[in-house]
Amino acid sequence: MNPSLRFADRPGPVAVGADHAGFRLKNELVEQLRALGHEVVDHGTLDGARCDYPDLALSVATAVAEGGAAWGLLVCGTGVGMAMAANRVPGVRAAVVSDSFSARATRLHNDANVLCLGERVVGGGLAGELLLAFLDGRFEGGRHQQRLDKLHAIEARDLAPAR
Ligand code: RB5
Repeated sequence: MNPSLRFADRPGPVAVGADHAGFRLKNELVEQLRALGHEVVDHGTLDGARCDYPDLALSVATAVAEGGAAWGLLVCGTGVGMAMAANRVPGVRAAVVSDSFSARATRLHNDANVLCLGERVVGGGLAGELLLAFLDGRFEGGRHQQRLDKLHAIEARDLAPAR
């Protein structure tokens, strides 16, 4: 995968998932993604029955980490639990955002590969804009790559804190 591409340039597949607090927004965004021509693999949940966000986050994050999906979208009540869970899967860089600047910047600077949103935080209109900003961002590399390398080193338990 070439990280300097915008996700908007990739038809997908994109892996999406949500818990019971996020599945309505997730379904709206799936429609938006399909209308944009993206291939979507929906990992659920499909209804309001209570479920645990780490299960959905693990499923989507694994698809991204193993290369089955180019990127991922996760929605829960706040987006926070999804990001915490997804970031425990090596290779995943999940970002929870609620403003367009951060949605774009996390692609430019962090090469984020999973977007996390909170249905209880953002409405459908803003969520659609956040999705577009994320899709449009292109990783800038350079000094940011050096920082990603350190993230990977932390993941590999290969970077000691400076004292
Ligand atoms: C579910 O009530 C809620 O805790 C969950 O959707 C999420 O917001 C956790 O971070």
